[in-house]
Amino acid sequence: MKLSKVILTGVVGLVSLGLAACGGGGSSSGSTPATDGGSGEQIVFKLAFNQTDQHPQYKAGVEFGKRLEEATDGRYSIKVYPNEQLGTQSDVIQNLSNGTVELMYVGGPVMEGFNKDFAVYNLPYMFDSVDAQHQIFRDTELNADLFKSVEESKNITVLAALFAGVRNIYNSKQAVRTPDDLTGMKIRVQQSDSQVRMIELMGAVASPMGQGDVYSALQTGVLDGAENNETVYNALKHDEVAKFYSYTRHLMIPDYLLISSKALNTMPEADRQALLDLVPEIQKMADDGFQDFIKKSIDSSKSIGAQFNDDVDTAAFKERVQPLVDETVNANDVRKTLYAAIQEANAAHPAG
Ligand code: GCU
Repeated sequence: MKLSKVILTGVVGLVSLGLAACGGGGSSSGSTPATDGGSGEQIVFKLAFNQTDQHPQYKAGVEFGKRLEEATDGRYSIKVYPNEQLGTQSDVIQNLSNGTVELMYVGGPVMEGFNKDFAVYNLPYMFDSVDAQHQIFRDTELNADLFKSVEESKNITVLAALFAGVRNIYNSKQAVRTPDDLTGMKIRVQQSDSQVRMIELMGAVASPMGQGDVYSALQTGVLDGAENNETVYNALKHDEVAKFYSYTRHLMIPDYLLISSKALNTMPEADRQALLDLVPEIQKMADDGFQDFIKKSIDSSKSIGAQFNDDVDTAAFKERVQPLVDETVNANDVRKTLYAAIQEANAAHPAG
């Protein structure tokens, strides 16, 4: 398979163009006639999503389907499956790799299972601002090899990296101001080594699990808390069972919009290009909707008694996690290069 084209306008995608287009891939809905003289059935790609239909990524995914349908004269569309209907991100990504699910949104840490170099983007206190993160994910050249690595090894094409909020700690016991306040607390993290090590250095006990299990684990006391952005805290009702939300601001981890390389490569060339051309606007839609979603989520959580604490010694947390940053970025030259680029982006776009 030849890797040849880099697509971007705020998005990095590495696409194989070496295969003959032969149609197919995805599920046939059978309900909408194709207009290309092909099989006569519309191909509907499944997009797996682990959050609710209120999320801007869900809305962007639905719009992606509509616009793809228009752009391909009805030959292709997308159906978004929210709420982990197709499984946890760790499970779904295997299905993407084998081609039984065509599209998904995935949290950055899950990518570490395929290539540990992704961990650089998942480190605590890495990006000083949203603009710094945007600069990094609009840099095609910088990300080309990293993204290409999963195409070659796993049949997964990275279409876009998306803003996914700033993550903070919340729990059922007390407001968190210093690392000592976390002592002994069991905190859910995303499923990766970097996330486990991070929360341990921050002072808590790490409990990696898929997102869908967190509510009941908080409710039953299996977990004392978790860490996530305000939208997840509210949308998944964690605010009902863990009312102390504290602004540790320890992570700004991207989500990735992924497509099965197999599905992409079996599209006729013009349809594939139409899909790729849509990605920047879909990415922008998902990113733009996020800030408003955060505000609404905070208001909604407050209305049911959640307490937001911004009196946090972030410098103390930052100092605690520095060994993780050092050991991760110094492990090889690829990571050193990514890290140096982040430093430049941070200098160009300091915290507001
Ligand atoms: C965020 C992120 C998801 C991730 C989730 C989690 O919502 O956008 O991709 O799966 O956090 O903590 O599992």
